[in-house]
Amino acid sequence: KPPVTLSTLNKLKAKGEKFSCLTCYDASFAHTMDQAGIETILVGDSLGMVVQGHDSTLPVTVADMAYHTANIARANRTALILCDLPFLSYATLSDAINSSRAVMQAGANVVKIEGGRELAETVRVLAQAGVPTCVHLGLTPQLVNIFGGYKVQGKTDEAAAKLLEDVQILVQAGAAMVLLECVPATLAKQVTQSVSVPVIGIGAGVDTDGQVLVMHDMLGVYTRKPAKFVKNFMTDSTNVTGDITGAFAAYHQAVKSQAFPTDEHTF
Ligand code: KIV
Ligand code: NA
Repeated sequence: KPPVTLSTLNKLKAKGEKFSCLTCYDASFAHTMDQAGIETILVGDSLGMVVQGHDSTLPVTVADMAYHTANIARANRTALILCDLPFLSYATLSDAINSSRAVMQAGANVVKIEGGRELAETVRVLAQAGVPTCVHLGLTPQLVNIFGGYKVQGKTDEAAAKLLEDVQILVQAGAAMVLLECVPATLAKQVTQSVSVPVIGIGAGVDTDGQVLVMHDMLGVYTRKPAKFVKNFMTDSTNVTGDITGAFAAYHQAVKSQAFPTDEHTF
């Protein structure tokens, strides 16, 4: 199978075909995801929680992200690799360039940054330098100390209108992808229809172009109470082989057929 690129995802969006994404942190799971047909891998700074045992993503460093990305890139054959720039590693334009250099040279294809219109200049500068960005809006875990917890975002009409406008500004600035976390499904649908670039959702309903879950969550490896949008595909009846490859394949199939997410996983 040919490698998945941004143009592959743009074509899928144009055809109305959904694509799958899972977080990944090492070579063995990257290989297994590849076997299961997962189209995009996110090296998430959630590794601060699920790998390192912290209670937020804030302690994660660029060196951590580059290390995990390099391990994944060695095993990956076809998936597009997205990599989070961690907390305070893109606060200035030169920080953004230096952090992107580290993770792109480790094997990332796209960098993901959290925030709204205030990132427009960062997105523009990175695009000019050859670094495609995925902008992450809605619940942005790096702002946990501003939000005072992990809550659904974009619930009021004003907040929804602002998010929609933020996305327009960022796509205008050159953002290659959008990721929406924990926003009402109606808002996610509106955003997805209003931009030409692929939109990935988590806790954002069935109408985004792609879906992402944290790998540990969808395998039922919980260290805390799972969020409403999580589904365990390890024990699901659609996992025909009952193993991890089967769980990844069942998830991939459920995303493609829009059997996941259902209302039960949606705000
Ligand atoms: O770090 C991560 O795992 C993420 C996803 C939850 C979108 O950013
Ligand atoms: Na993240």
